[in-house]
Amino acid sequence: MIKIILMAMVSLIFLNKNLSAKEEFGELPYDKGSDRIDVSKYPKVMQEAYKVFASKCSKCHNLSRPINSPYAIPEEWERYIKMMMRKPGSGIDPKSAKTIYEFLKYDSQVRKRELYERKLKARKK
Ligand code: HEC
Repeated sequence: MIKIILMAMVSLIFLNKNLSAKEEFGELPYDKGSDRIDVSKYPKVMQEAYKVFASKCSKCHNLSRPINSPYAIPEEWERYIKMMMRKPGSGIDPKSAKTIYEFLKYDSQVRKRELYERKLKARKK
């Protein structure tokens, strides 16, 4: 019984810490959208990569932030992933960063096709 109570207390403290870490950073407009992507039609390797993205990129803000952000082309993802991994305590190692990069690049071409193409064209000018 004592053990159960202790475990409950520890998980409450942990949950609380996680919540306040997220609140601390405030909200962005993209936080309001969906916090998941339907990857059921994505290739197997991208489905696996999605898991890495979902676990690593939801630590400090909800996953809805990157999912609904206006970033689409590879250099944008490179820039933002690097920025996120350099934040203290990000827990994002170079290998996961690469996997997340591959996922977001692929996902943008599928889910943000129009934006992706528009941005690519603008870049070439
Ligand atoms: C260590 C905490 C932390 C982790 C982990 C993290 N982020 Fe962030 N993220 C932030 C903070 C804080 C902001 C607010 C803007 C800033 O400080 O750069 C942010 C903002 C963002 C934004 C909005 C940037 C803008 O200015 O429009 C995007 C997109 C984003 N994160 C994507 C990601 C992705 C993708 C990952 C996983 C690779 C990730 N984040 C992991 C802390 C984190």
